[in-house]
Amino acid sequence: MEPATLRPAAELHVHLRGAMPPAYFAQLLERHPPARALAQAPERHLAFFRRWPHLAGFLAPDAPAGADLFGFSTFPGFLASYLLSGYFVRTPADFRGLLDAVATDFVAQGLRYAEVTVSVPEYLMQGIPLEAVCEALSEASRRPDIRLRWIVDLVRNFGHDAALDLLRRLLARPPAGWVGVTLGGSEAEFPPGPFRESFELARAHGLGLTVHAGEAAGPESVWEALRELRVDRIGHGVRAVEDPRLVEHLAERGIPLEVCLTGNVKTGVFPSLAAHSLPQLDAAGVAFTLNTDDPTFFATTLAGEFEAARSLGISEQALGDALANVERFAFDRDACRIRFSPLRLC
Ligand code: HPA
Ligand code: ZN
Repeated sequence: MEPATLRPAAELHVHLRGAMPPAYFAQLLERHPPARALAQAPERHLAFFRRWPHLAGFLAPDAPAGADLFGFSTFPGFLASYLLSGYFVRTPADFRGLLDAVATDFVAQGLRYAEVTVSVPEYLMQGIPLEAVCEALSEASRRPDIRLRWIVDLVRNFGHDAALDLLRRLLARPPAGWVGVTLGGSEAEFPPGPFRESFELARAHGLGLTVHAGEAAGPESVWEALRELRVDRIGHGVRAVEDPRLVEHLAERGIPLEVCLTGNVKTGVFPSLAAHSLPQLDAAGVAFTLNTDDPTFFATTLAGEFEAARSLGISEQALGDALANVERFAFDRDACRIRFSPLRLC
């Protein structure tokens, strides 16, 4: 008999637009030719896009559709691609279509539960009303074929006042399936501490707390996230290895890391998969889950992330723990546990 292979059916760290099927992006590009999509972009965004040769195709007057969105090799280059992709999700119908395309793709891969990070400020910036965003999220959370739960990315680059304002508006009329908040965006430029009030408010309303930290910045960013934001989980956290005291602290307190191996290599956080810190973190007893982050941008799948971990020498026991940790640390444990077991083998 073939040995049983682990078939992961749930994950906790995947960005909605980062999971956009390429065929759907091609449709959006047809709907919104780049010159028109970018016509209203502020100069600071255009200047950011111009810094990256891989995005040049989008900025030329006769921009060829589908230029090299995925041609980045650094973290800021990736963020530029990610931000740019948001300029093509411009209407409530685009946003609903994105949710549907992503959910359909997840189901086809065998996913049954996903906590999906949604960069709400970036959709509002394109002129999609918050009510339309919330309605679409609520509807998608009721799909019978997959449990989708939402982690709102307050997007650190928009600053704390904007984060708090958005949080209050969302709390006044919360979308169904909303389970947590995070901060994505430029970690090196926007440390977590100043977002403390927003995270306190979110906690007071029973939301789960996570934050991107220890990805594009070092251990001090993770310490600050723990101290100031009192998060339940850390998005990435893989640069914690630069401070042995922090690794000990994470292990002792059982604070889990949402590890995304392929993305860390594609964005240059580590020069190669072999150089990734996961084996060290695992050996030190730090709890982790495996996740795709932005599977379309990083050309990966959840099953692919498990293969990557295996190729790093992570044991089958530890991979089983990583699956169990999804349920253990999910922000909607009942939805993750009752109907679907992420531990299912096939
Ligand atoms: N880090 C920070 N911001 C992001 C990411 C990420 O991995 N993906 C999309 N926005
Ligand atoms: Zn992420």
